[in-house]
Amino acid sequence: MRAVVLEEFGEPEVMHVREVPRPQPGPRQLRVRVRASALNRGDTVQRSGGYPLPPGIKTPRMGIEVAGEVEAVGAEVRAWSPGQRVFGLVDGGGYAEACLMEEGMAIPIPEGWSFVQAAATPEAFITAHESLLMLGGLREGQSVLIHAGGSGIGTACIQVAKAMGAKVFFTVSTEEKRRRCLELGADAGVLRTERNFAREVPALNGGAGVDLVEDFVGGAALERNLSVLKFGGCLLLLGMLDGMSAELDLRQVVMRRLQLKGMALRPLSPEERVAVTRRFRERWLPELVAGRVRPIIDSTFPLERAADAHRRMESNASFGKIVLEV
Ligand SMILES: NC(=O)c1ccc[n+]([C@@H]2O[C@H](COP(=O)([O-])OP(=O)(O)OC[C@H]3O[C@@H](n4cnc5c(N)ncnc54)[C@H](OP(=O)(O)O)[C@@H]3O)[C@@H](O)[C@H]2O)c1
Repeated sequence: MRAVVLEEFGEPEVMHVREVPRPQPGPRQLRVRVRASALNRGDTVQRSGGYPLPPGIKTPRMGIEVAGEVEAVGAEVRAWSPGQRVFGLVDGGGYAEACLMEEGMAIPIPEGWSFVQAAATPEAFITAHESLLMLGGLREGQSVLIHAGGSGIGTACIQVAKAMGAKVFFTVSTEEKRRRCLELGADAGVLRTERNFAREVPALNGGAGVDLVEDFVGGAALERNLSVLKFGGCLLLLGMLDGMSAELDLRQVVMRRLQLKGMALRPLSPEERVAVTRRFRERWLPELVAGRVRPIIDSTFPLERAADAHRRMESNASFGKIVLEV
């Protein structure tokens, strides 16, 4: 089968489509004939060599969410058979004609959904649910600042937070992205390239800080992110787009009783990954099927143009998910 392989780390051109053996499913795995696989920012970090894979990840190839058809099933799989349409998270290897998926993470594609739509859904909505609701405890009437509002994850977080009845602020880098985030229901946004969000967000919220910060930025913005929190507020660190280390005056954490939490999906155990998939299915799949929330698709590229898809992502021009069609 054809798959995108990395023969070295580096710029997008290190990705090549090569013939590789079709993977054989273990007893409780499905082999999925991939029709679409969505990009995630972590893929670009992995390609550059900056993402040491967590222990337990068996597939070093890129691609962590796919949609397609079941092609073969392991000996102990009872609920799935070849030909069924399926989507979900995978350990890796989604940029390929076929990849393996744990049975417990497989979700039937709802009637009428395209493969592209299905592939663009799980990582964004699972991350939004686990961060905002499970770790952040977001409730109706609270307020949240979502960085990278126009990212694949950010566009899902805005919709999930609004569906919870929260007041939603965001940062983006262009006026066009701000307009589109407002269309998704967000209350107000700051152009991070022109204004200091730490000053603007409290002003937009009637002088008050926010209950939660959904932080994909890390690095040098850490102090400013903590400064926009209310007394007792919570910073959720999910990404490090602007650096992996920061200096912090710990007094503001202690004296303002702030919480600082980190989150990543890939280091979770197989059982925990099944549990996050189940929570997504129960809470958000009905909302997605009813059209009350939706994955935002920026663009699609054929598998052979995976390098161009990575270039688009790294240009910061995309709004929503970029998807490879296979
Ligand atoms: N921890 C987890 O479980 C988890 C899961 C999934 C994703 N993530 C993280 O979530 C983030 C978004 O992922 P994605 O796949 O949705 O990315 P994406 O679609 O590529 O969007 C990323 C956006 O971030 C903004 N950005 C880039 N550099 C920035 C900087 N230095 N400061 C502030 N904003 C910056 C850009 O938008 P603007 O120019 O408009 O600001 C860019 O378009 C990444 O950091 C990723 O690692 C974490």
